[in-house]
Amino acid sequence: VPDDEDTQKEDNIRGLTMLGHFGFDCLPHQLVNKSVQQGFFFNILCVGETGIGKSTLIDTLFNTNLKDKKSSHFYSNVGLKIQTHELQESNVQLKLTVVKTVGYGDQINKESSYHPIVDYIDAQFESYLQEEWKIKRSFADYHDSRVHVCLYFISPTGHSLKPLDLLTMKNIDTKVNIIPLIAKADTISKSDLQKFKCKIMSELVSNGIQIYQFPTDDEADANVNYSMNGLLPFAIVGSTDEVKVGKRMVRGRQYPWGVLQVENENHCDFVKLRDMLLYTNMEDLKEQTHTQHYERYRCCKLQKMGFVDVGPDNQPVSFQEIYEAKRQEFFDQCQREEEELKQKFMQRVKEKETAFKESEKELQDKFEHLKRVQQEETMKLEEERRQLEEEIIDFYKMKAASETLHTLVCTNIKKD
Ligand code: GTP
Repeated sequence: VPDDEDTQKEDNIRGLTMLGHFGFDCLPHQLVNKSVQQGFFFNILCVGETGIGKSTLIDTLFNTNLKDKKSSHFYSNVGLKIQTHELQESNVQLKLTVVKTVGYGDQINKESSYHPIVDYIDAQFESYLQEEWKIKRSFADYHDSRVHVCLYFISPTGHSLKPLDLLTMKNIDTKVNIIPLIAKADTISKSDLQKFKCKIMSELVSNGIQIYQFPTDDEADANVNYSMNGLLPFAIVGSTDEVKVGKRMVRGRQYPWGVLQVENENHCDFVKLRDMLLYTNMEDLKEQTHTQHYERYRCCKLQKMGFVDVGPDNQPVSFQEIYEAKRQEFFDQCQREEEELKQKFMQRVKEKETAFKESEKELQDKFEHLKRVQQEETMKLEEERRQLEEEIIDFYKMKAASETLHTLVCTNIKKD
């Protein structure tokens, strides 16, 4: 074929540009689309003293105004306020559940302040476990309320953690991902803040309290997460107020000496917290909640119920076998209890019967006695009546005799 014909053919070939992915490399897109359609959910637990800045921080984090009323300092017990909000940013919907402590740190005796928090976390695990155990499960409609993260607000004392902080964190650290925060960090100087952070971390370590560690196993986020772990606890300032700085409006707190910009990394760690919580690690927090904390709860629950994976001989034990054995054990126990109850019942019946018989006999004896007394009385009366009648007869006899005598006397007198 002549050369010029070749070039003519090549000129006629239509070039196609790729518009998108066609192979299995588009699998992630399916997931993204599905997740966006379903919407996201996230559950935060805020633990901290009354008025420490919990609501303000949540508003600042999610750029909203959830209009939460201030709590009183005079509750006799610690309580929890649970609120669920539907938020939207561009086409992403987020169902956010915020659980806040109420009255935390306000009681004189704070020993049991952590109980409602522990109970709440466990109750959410239990509810999920119950759903899992159902025959007809409906996870599509199920509102998973398990707590994904606990933001623990530390008072900006600059000294150390309080016993209440240690006690609470110690009791929840195996149940929830704890991120400790120094609240109202604008009240501490830069040098004090650094010392305070070190003190808090050393106290957490010496008390064996596990806080959430940003994961460093994923290459993409390893470096940033590693450095963020070194910055814990985050020093936080919250505010939804817009303040003018130069020509810009920024979120911050206006003071006589200047403006504290919430989103300025030189002023506080708010941006770091937001990035770690929402941008980088939200999925990891949820995953840890499911794979670590919930799994631990589920495992303890099953162990308490007597289920094990391996027997004493280190051989795997089938769940069904244990279940059957447990069922039999339960059945036997029910029968034993039923038998015991029957025995007790019979014993009670016998006791009652004996008691009835005794009182019947007593009554009978009483009756016999009274009957005898009455008979004796009757006989006595009869005797008295008979005597009386005899006396009456004697009386009449005497009367008749005296009348006869009287008549005789009268007759004799007349004769004389
Ligand atoms: P309760 O729900 O009543 O327990 O309070 P809370 O912990 O939710 O505190 P809230 O966010 O209502 O804040 C209480 C007060 O602290 C408000 O006057 C806030 O403006 C102020 N506040 C919140 N965050 C900060 C902060 O970072 N620094 C300073 N200085 N004040 C703050």
